[in-house]
Amino acid sequence: AETVADLCEDRELVVASNRQPYSHNYEGETDDRGAIDVDRPAGGLTAALDPVMQAVEGTWVAWGDGDADREVVGPDDTVAVPPEDPAYDLKRVWLTDEQVEGYYRGYSNQVLWPLCHLDTAKMTPREEFWREYRETNADFADAILDSTDDAGSDPVVWFQDYHLALAPRRVRNARPDAFLAHFWHIPWPSRDVFRACPQYEQLLDGLLANDLVGFHTEDYCRNFLDCVEAATDARVDRASSSVSYRGHRTFVRSFPLGIDASRQADLAESDEADEWWAEFSETHGIDPSDTLAVGVERLDYTKGIEQRLAALERFWADNPERRGEFTYVQKGTESRSGIEAYDRLQDRVAAEIERINDRFGTDDWTPVIYTTDHLPGAAIAALYREADLGLVTPVRDGMNLVAKEYVAAQTRDPGVLVLSELAGATDQLGDGAVLVHPYDTPGFADGIAEALSLSLAERRTRVADLQREVHAKDVYEWLESTFETAAAVERGRRSLRQS
Ligand code: G6P
Repeated sequence: AETVADLCEDRELVVASNRQPYSHNYEGETDDRGAIDVDRPAGGLTAALDPVMQAVEGTWVAWGDGDADREVVGPDDTVAVPPEDPAYDLKRVWLTDEQVEGYYRGYSNQVLWPLCHLDTAKMTPREEFWREYRETNADFADAILDSTDDAGSDPVVWFQDYHLALAPRRVRNARPDAFLAHFWHIPWPSRDVFRACPQYEQLLDGLLANDLVGFHTEDYCRNFLDCVEAATDARVDRASSSVSYRGHRTFVRSFPLGIDASRQADLAESDEADEWWAEFSETHGIDPSDTLAVGVERLDYTKGIEQRLAALERFWADNPERRGEFTYVQKGTESRSGIEAYDRLQDRVAAEIERINDRFGTDDWTPVIYTTDHLPGAAIAALYREADLGLVTPVRDGMNLVAKEYVAAQTRDPGVLVLSELAGATDQLGDGAVLVHPYDTPGFADGIAEALSLSLAERRTRVADLQREVHAKDVYEWLESTFETAAAVERGRRSLRQS
């Protein structure tokens, strides 16, 4: 919070993201709506930014998607949060059904998401998706401008992710002196892939209105600079990793996102984790002597769940002595339902698990335990803690924080992280993990066998190395280095203006 306060001084900090940190929902169904519940930040980023926002008393602009959100806001669409001790403003942007369809489901999740995850065959660049994306980005920009109107000095605006690529340009046009930063939470593709998107120039034009653009890895930064060089008349300076475009300079930097590692370790050691595990293992007949692997993710085609199931099937086929003893737990969270690619994936994952369980399962052993239940953080931490293997094997992933959570939760008998070479996290965790290629089914199955064969001493060394990294580069370090860089860029900008 101090570093953030340094940059902001007496300026207002505005964070803008598609998802909101608090959502208000009626307890009951439509007929008997009753009281209003406040749902809390679930994701790591919202959980980490929330205390910062409380400390600097800024404004958070986000889509109001809770069914009771409109009930609790004032005339400026703002509600003070957290509810029990209000410290900052949450300003809600309301989306029409067309906007949810075109901006969120459409352009964000059926154009930009597959594009950036190198799955251009899944891209659906419909005209109305682009129209709604443009309009919604304008709405976000207007809400940001609205919330900073009466602030005396120029605001600091921090955009999150691919939903808001165009908003910075509109904010820049209205407030030339605002400090604008953007963090892109997913991969940035190479320039030949990026050009598959018909609006590639407009997207770059939007992002280059920022003073600072952040990505998880150096590779994504390089890809971004390549795209800018190929598609615009901007001047790219590789030495300083910056771009001069339309009279403005944008710095491009990598800031690998981390987790709250200490909190994750505490969760793994909590009574709630113990209690949940006692019940779960009893329900599913898991003995302490059994070997366990775990996968935790949103049901998204980028996460490589089907490829992982194929590798597990291969492993059980090749190692019959492991049947009855080596169990895989898949926690899947329903995500982006209503989009065909996601609905189909949900069906296929369920069907595959059923088929594998039919093939190898016995009266007293189920190879794959599958749950889509909502699980509290302590339950997930218990799963991580108990699992001998953490299988984090996306076919493409910007970073992947589950890999970091799994590592931080190894508070007892240290497990092995089995990690895809195609995850952003591999830059940081590749050395201590067993690396696999998600599409190489036999190699992946061998990787599982290798991970299971590691001695206790070997596992200890690996986990100690990985934990050092995950704790040193946690989410607070990420915030600090982002804001330190932002402050340095801002100082440079001011001295330029004065000279
Ligand atoms: C990814 C994105 C986030 C997004 C999350 C969940 O991690 O980078 O911006 O919030 O997925 O997806 P959803 O569509 O439910 O927000």
